[in-house]
Amino acid sequence: MHISIDISQALPFLPEDSLESIRPGIEASWDTLMTGTGEGNDFLGWVRLPSQTDTAQLKRIREHAAKMREIAEVFVVIGIGGSYLGARAVNDALSPSFPALMKSRKTPLILYAGENLSEDYHADLLEVMDNYSCGVAVISKSGTTTEPAVAFRLIKKKLETKYGREGARERIIAITDASRGALKKIADAEGYETYVIPDDVGGRYSVLTPVGLLPIAVAGLDIEKLVEGAAEMEQVACKSPDFMLNPATLYAAIRNLLYRHGKQTEIMVTYQPHLVMLTEWWKQLFGESEGKKGKGIFPAGVTFTTDLHSMGQFIQEGVRHLFETVLSVERPNRELWVPDDPENNDGLNFLAGKSLSEVNHQAEIGTRLAHVDGGVPNIRISIPCLDAYHLGQLLYFYEFACGVSGYTLGINPFDQPGVEAYKRKMFELLGKPGY
Ligand code: PA5
Repeated sequence: MHISIDISQALPFLPEDSLESIRPGIEASWDTLMTGTGEGNDFLGWVRLPSQTDTAQLKRIREHAAKMREIAEVFVVIGIGGSYLGARAVNDALSPSFPALMKSRKTPLILYAGENLSEDYHADLLEVMDNYSCGVAVISKSGTTTEPAVAFRLIKKKLETKYGREGARERIIAITDASRGALKKIADAEGYETYVIPDDVGGRYSVLTPVGLLPIAVAGLDIEKLVEGAAEMEQVACKSPDFMLNPATLYAAIRNLLYRHGKQTEIMVTYQPHLVMLTEWWKQLFGESEGKKGKGIFPAGVTFTTDLHSMGQFIQEGVRHLFETVLSVERPNRELWVPDDPENNDGLNFLAGKSLSEVNHQAEIGTRLAHVDGGVPNIRISIPCLDAYHLGQLLYFYEFACGVSGYTLGINPFDQPGVEAYKRKMFELLGKPGY
C-alpha cells in the first residue's frame, strides 16, 4: 500500500474544468523530468536513485554505522541545508520522542552541528563532547560551505585533543564530492573514511545518498526499507504519465492550480511532533526549488493541535492567500487510551476508552472542516503508519512532485542561485580574500 492523496476539499475553490486545463502542462512537465530534457537536467540523478542503489554500498554504510554505534555514545552530524535536513527529518520521524532520556535507547544520541553559527550552541556541544564518547560525520557536497566548515574545525580539534590525531581519524567520516572542495582535500590528507555524493544529485534531493543514509543508519534505522519504499514509489506510482493516477503529479497539479488562483502560501500541517523536521525538509525542498524569478509558493509549516493555539486564528480568519496540505498518519506505532475516572471532575469521561490517535484524528477532521469553511483549500496526503518503508515513499513522492511542480511553474527546480547573495555580503564583511 502506498501513500494516497485527497484533493476533494481543494477542488471547490477552483473553476470546474481546472484539472483538465492543467493536464497538458503537468503531463509535459512529467515528460520533461523523465526524459531529462529540461533545465537543470544535470541534477536528475535522484530520479532513478532508489531503484539503482548499490546493495554493496548499503552494506558498507550499515557496517560502518554499526562500528560507530559501538564506539560512540554521541554521534555529531555536521552539515547544513540539504546536507543535514533529510537525515534529521528521518531520524526524528522514526526515533523515540525523547531519545536522550529513553533508557531503552541502544543507539548513539544524534546531535547536529554546522547548521547555524551560534557560539552558545557550539560551545554547549563541545562541552557534551567532553563527557561522552563521540563519532562524527561531516557532510558537504561543495566542501566549502562556511557553517559546517567552521563547526568541523572546532570539532576536529576537540576530537584530536581527546583521542589524538590517529584516534580522531577512526571516529570521523567525511561525505563529500568525489574530487573537489576543501573537505575532500582534508579527508584525503587525514585519511578519513569517505563517501561520495553523486555529482548529479543536488543537496536537497540527496537524502537517499550517503548524506542521509549514513546518519540514519547510525541511528539504528532500516535504510534498506527506506530505499525500498522510495523505489516502489519511483517504479510504480510515479511511472504513470496520467497525472490523475500518479499521486505526485496530482499534488503538483493541484498546488499549481491553487497558486494560479491566488493561493500563494502552502502550509504543511502535521499532527505528529515527530514530523516537525520532515516539515523543515519539505520547506527547503520546495522553497529552494521554486522560489525564483519572482515566482513560487511560499512553504510554511505548522504542527497541530499545538499550533492551533498559535497560528489557528490566522489560518481561520486572516488574509486568504493560504492553502493547507495535511500530512496524515493513519495508525500510531504505540497505543494509549484515555482512562475512565469515576469522579469525572475534568468532565472528560466522554473520551474515556478512546485512543489518543482517535481523538487526534477527530481533531484533524474537525479542523479541516473549519478551515475549509473559513476559505482555506485543503489537500490531504496520508500514509498508513510512520515506518522506514512509508517514509521512503513519502520522501520520493515529495521530490518527484517538486520536480514536476517546478517545471510547471516555469523555473529550474534544481538550482539555487539566490543562496549566494547572503554569502557575498557576509564574506565582504568578514574580509574573506577575494570579496
Ligand atoms: O540543497 C542545496 O543544494 C543546499 O541546501 C545545500 O545542501 C547547502 O547549501 C549545503 O551545501 P553543501 O553540501 O555544499 O555544504
